[in-house]
Amino acid sequence: MKGSPLAWAGPPARLCCLLLLFVVLIGRGGADGGGGRGTSVYPAAVVYPHHSRQISWKPRAFLYQRFLTDDEANHLISLARAELKRSAVADNMSGKSTLSDVRTSSGTFLRKGQDPIVGGIEDKIAAWTFLPKENGEDIQVRRYMHGEKYMPHYDYFTDKVNTIRGGHRTATVLMYLTDVAEGGETVFPLAEEFDDTKDATLSECAQKGIAVKPRKGDALLFFNLNPDSTTDSLSLHAGCPVIKGEKWSATKWIRVASFDKVYHSGGNCTDENESCPKWAALGECKKNPDYMVGTEALPGYCRRSCNVC
Ligand SMILES: *[C@@H]1O[C@H](CO)[C@@H](O)[C@H](O)[C@H]1NC(C)=O
Ligand SMILES: *[C@@H]1O[C@H](CO)[C@@H](O)[C@H](O)[C@H]1NC(C)=O
Ligand SMILES: *[C@@H]1O[C@H](CO)[C@@H](O)[C@H](O)[C@H]1NC(C)=O
Repeated sequence: MKGSPLAWAGPPARLCCLLLLFVVLIGRGGADGGGGRGTSVYPAAVVYPHHSRQISWKPRAFLYQRFLTDDEANHLISLARAELKRSAVADNMSGKSTLSDVRTSSGTFLRKGQDPIVGGIEDKIAAWTFLPKENGEDIQVRRYMHGEKYMPHYDYFTDKVNTIRGGHRTATVLMYLTDVAEGGETVFPLAEEFDDTKDATLSECAQKGIAVKPRKGDALLFFNLNPDSTTDSLSLHAGCPVIKGEKWSATKWIRVASFDKVYHSGGNCTDENESCPKWAALGECKKNPDYMVGTEALPGYCRRSCNVC
């Protein structure tokens, strides 16, 4: 007697409660995801997952179209242009050559969060990659003029010194700040091709493997480490020579651990590692200035041996 009304009322009652729970969960999801409750680690950075497209699994690479607004791209160029001009003049006065044999482009680093626009871009990168902002290096902006290129290389390191600060570079986000009329593609020559419809406008250098044409505002994310943290030899990549036009790009390398944690002692001029004099003698101050010298905001480990204090 008691059981029958209950049995009758059972299924609809349960359905009603499930629906209610569902609505509650959706409501919570919306509020948390909005990031507007003051508890999130980063200010709300809006990224749209559907703007990101997987272009390769070997290596893991993704393209996000119009990741940067035109204003953001132009802003990074103007910050870098001013810095490149400043360092060219300084080099001229000191008689130092600015030309490197390895890389034919010119580049400069923008201090992390140096203004709200740079900081906002870094927030978006963190949200897109699911990798914390503190693991990122300073953004490097590069300019490639006609004929300039970046030879095939890996972003991960094979030496110990370069990985002390933050460990390996697990991921790279390469943002294109200009359209390039011809050439300047990013190419992964060892990538496993899965798309045989090749873009007919790619330059010769970009024919092998998988290539991405630079388009203002687009961002390319690729991983230098496999999911099991071993280095991915298929992540070899190059910047094809610019054939027509000028190419500007901005790179954010992201480490496996914090890049910001630098332990240094007050204002005194010290080395932070007993091997500093040896490393300095081996030319590491020049080869590896980020670690050895650092910046004013993020001093390196061997400032004394590098004679910068
Ligand atoms: C470097 O200095 C020389 C002579 O002082 C000058 O002609 C040249 O334009 C300078 N170059 C740059 C990049 O400032
Ligand atoms: C720097 O060194 C001097 C002399 O050894 C010491 O008196 C001073 O407290 C040190 N300053 C800092 C910030 O460590
Ligand atoms: C100095 O660097 C070496 C090599 O990376 C490391 O093993 C050692 O722990 C460092 N020493 C200090 C005091 O940080």
